[in-house]
Amino acid sequence: MQIRVLGTVEAQVGDELVALGPRQRRLVLGVLAWEANRVVTVDRLIVLVWPDDPPRSAAHAVRVAVSDLRARLPVDIETHGTGYLLRCDPLMVDVHRFLSLVAQARKTADDRARLGLLDEALGLWRGPVLADVASDRTRDLLASGVEETRLVAVEDRVEALLGLGGHRDVVEELLGLVDLHPTRERLVGQLMLALYRSGRAGQALDVFRRTRAYLADELGIDPGAGLRRLELAILQNDEELDLPVVSTALVGRRHELAMLGEWRAKALSGRTTVVLLEGAAGIGKSTLLDEFSRGIRVLRGQGVAEEGAPAYWPWRQVFRQWLAETDAGVAAEVLGEAADKIGRIVPELGRPADAERSAEERFALFDEVTALVGRMAAGGLVIVLDDLHWADPASLLLFSHLARGARDVPLLLVGAYRPYELRQARDTLAEITRLGGAIRLELPGLSADEVALQLTAELGRPCEPAEAAVITTRTGGNPLFVREIGRLRRADPRASISEVPTGARDAIRQYLSVLSRLVEHCSPRPRCSRWTSTR
Ligand SMILES: Nc1ncnc2c1ncn2[C@@H]1O[C@H](COP(=O)(O)OP(=O)(O)OP(=O)(O)O)[C@@H](O)[C@H]1O
Ligand SMILES: [Mg+2]
Repeated sequence: MQIRVLGTVEAQVGDELVALGPRQRRLVLGVLAWEANRVVTVDRLIVLVWPDDPPRSAAHAVRVAVSDLRARLPVDIETHGTGYLLRCDPLMVDVHRFLSLVAQARKTADDRARLGLLDEALGLWRGPVLADVASDRTRDLLASGVEETRLVAVEDRVEALLGLGGHRDVVEELLGLVDLHPTRERLVGQLMLALYRSGRAGQALDVFRRTRAYLADELGIDPGAGLRRLELAILQNDEELDLPVVSTALVGRRHELAMLGEWRAKALSGRTTVVLLEGAAGIGKSTLLDEFSRGIRVLRGQGVAEEGAPAYWPWRQVFRQWLAETDAGVAAEVLGEAADKIGRIVPELGRPADAERSAEERFALFDEVTALVGRMAAGGLVIVLDDLHWADPASLLLFSHLARGARDVPLLLVGAYRPYELRQARDTLAEITRLGGAIRLELPGLSADEVALQLTAELGRPCEPAEAAVITTRTGGNPLFVREIGRLRRADPRASISEVPTGARDAIRQYLSVLSRLVEHCSPRPRCSRWTSTR
């Protein structure tokens, strides 16, 4: 059962509204629900039902109203001395739900979450309190505190919207609110800020001047210090008034981060673990790895698209980082004899060696590196190689050798790549999954809810669910495309959702060029069947 008092008084059982009968009965229910789980004396009920001149039969009328309510509604109205108490879960009554949502919103730091709670809370209001049954006097006696809470909630909601960059959306509403409540300085300040951020500084200052004149005429006071500071900041174009640049925090990926965390724990317990992270350009591989690497030690290398990068470039980055972060004495001990031998990969470690002339020489080098990494990993080690699709063939072969050769060392080895750009590397990586027991993690697009969150950050204003749904469909939830569309629409709010922004266009062009290469080289050999085998 639901009882509603924020508007006309209503009682609903299941889907049905219950006919409550005359005004007195509805008002008695309204008051008992308002004071849910608290005793309301008959005297107080009489004052609230007949604030001006109660009839002599008032006490009897209240008792009849209560007994009618008991008969009509599945509610528990207890008699306590000369009063009554409605025993119920307070959240059945809209005003208590409202207060609880507002309290929750106050404890919530995130603007978007706060906005959601406040929207829900304010959405419970269907009109003035006890709209069809109470006089203004009754409303003053019963509800002035909650009316004030509602206004503060309205202000909190505007603040959340301003925090999300919704200044343009709130100007109209604020103009109306300031008209109704010209002495509420918080609303006035919010209107000034919204106007200022919408490029209407002149109007913002006008609002200040009118408020100052009104306060002087009506109350003989000056605007408060906050409002005066705001005026000064607007006059000085103070940067502090600008919308803080929202950092595009990571959206979603909890599942993937949890899995990476588990695999790291497994690796660090001594079971070497290899993960192949695959996904299209812009799907968020590097971003996920950045987040995963936060606060833990990770050695990272990356394949590069430019021509001329030396052989083993990603590995050179890994070993250089390790050398830079490791005490020289410890490094020398761990390196031991290997220092000279791996000069081919890290020239500063030994004499720059020639290219391996034979397969045997290469195998010996890889074995040396595998043993070295085993020693480096003694206390636990995570190595991440990003953009493997651009890595030189030798780097990939070394990755593969290490993935299959390192056994029972506390090492987590992660390789990330765009699967459709692998070319020859495809076979090498397929072999790792087949023989080395590597785990493949395919990164999917973001869900519509996640796209809405990312768009809100990019747009600097709340994103409508319908807008998020269209953009999710159009981008497949690819965060790079979502980001580019968000930036385009932030710069030009009228930009069409179907317009393809430059950043996304580059990624698509790249994708299409690879696809056409793949189609050209398409061979009748069913390579995919090998590729899909996983362990
Ligand atoms: N989970 C996410 N939440 C918010 N933004 C994201 C997320 N993932 C990616 N992005 C944004 O999308 C863009 C592309 O992401 P990223 O560079 O990680 O993709 P990638 O898969 O590594 O692409 P590439 O194959 O080109 O290296 C980045 O600007 C990043 O900030
Ligand atoms: Mg990347």
